[in-house]
Amino acid sequence: MLDVRDVVTAYGKIEALKGVTLSVAEGRITCLLGPNGAGKTTLMYSIAGILKPRRGRIALKDREITGRAPDQVVQAGVALVPENRLVFPQMSVRENLTAGAYLRRDRAGIAADMERMFQRFPRLKEREGQLAGTLSGGEQQMLSVARALMSRPRLLLMDEPSLGLAPLVVEEIFRIVTELNRDGTTIFLVEQNAHMALKVAHHFYLMEQGRVSFSGTPGEVEEAEVIQRAYLGSRRAD
Ligand SMILES: Nc1ncnc2c1ncn2[C@@H]1O[C@H](COP(=O)(O)OP(=O)(O)OP(=O)(O)O)[C@@H](O)[C@H]1O
Ligand SMILES: [Mg+2]
Repeated sequence: MLDVRDVVTAYGKIEALKGVTLSVAEGRITCLLGPNGAGKTTLMYSIAGILKPRRGRIALKDREITGRAPDQVVQAGVALVPENRLVFPQMSVRENLTAGAYLRRDRAGIAADMERMFQRFPRLKEREGQLAGTLSGGEQQMLSVARALMSRPRLLLMDEPSLGLAPLVVEEIFRIVTELNRDGTTIFLVEQNAHMALKVAHHFYLMEQGRVSFSGTPGEVEEAEVIQRAYLGSRRAD
């Protein structure tokens, strides 16, 4: 569904992505692992149109979206749940959700989707008038996911959704990821928590210093020495 080919993205002279090639299969959960500074967020921003690649090609279902503006990428069916959540703190929960649908004109559809979000995230319903900045970290993450879903994406990009959250909230986030995927949304997930990711993802990439250094199935991830050491603590006791 998503094809990234030889993408180079730079900040001034420094190339954060040095020719990244990977693909995300339709209907699947694909996970991107990688250390701090590897370029994971830069890749997410490059796909979402927030950063323009210097070279390379990004295509969504054979339609090129390289260098398109963020709103055009949303129109094409891609939504980003950004790193650090980034809800609009001075807006209410409801207003944040409305903002997620800013490109849609189908008022009835938006209202129906808003209700669907409140069913899926009951804690947001209880707090619909509360300012987003006063929500707990976990609630803000739920809101960030719900806001992205309000654009009705076919591909959901999630940049470290579990970062800084308590284990129970992390489990809830992963449960939602699985549910969304079961309902037909393709997911491209940046995650450092390889243990959790192994429970949900179908394919893995490892990015190091702006390049993809590993691609494999969950089984291959569990066997890969490099990932064992950095992401899974120790080798399995077998
Ligand atoms: N706005 C910026 N200006 C200059 N350099 C930047 C900018 N944003 C990121 N970088 C650099 O690009 C590289 C990749 O950063 P990026 O945020 O994509 O990494 P990451 O894999 O998402 O890391 P983390 O796991 O810490 O979120 C880093 O070396 C970083 O310092
Ligand atoms: Mg990042």
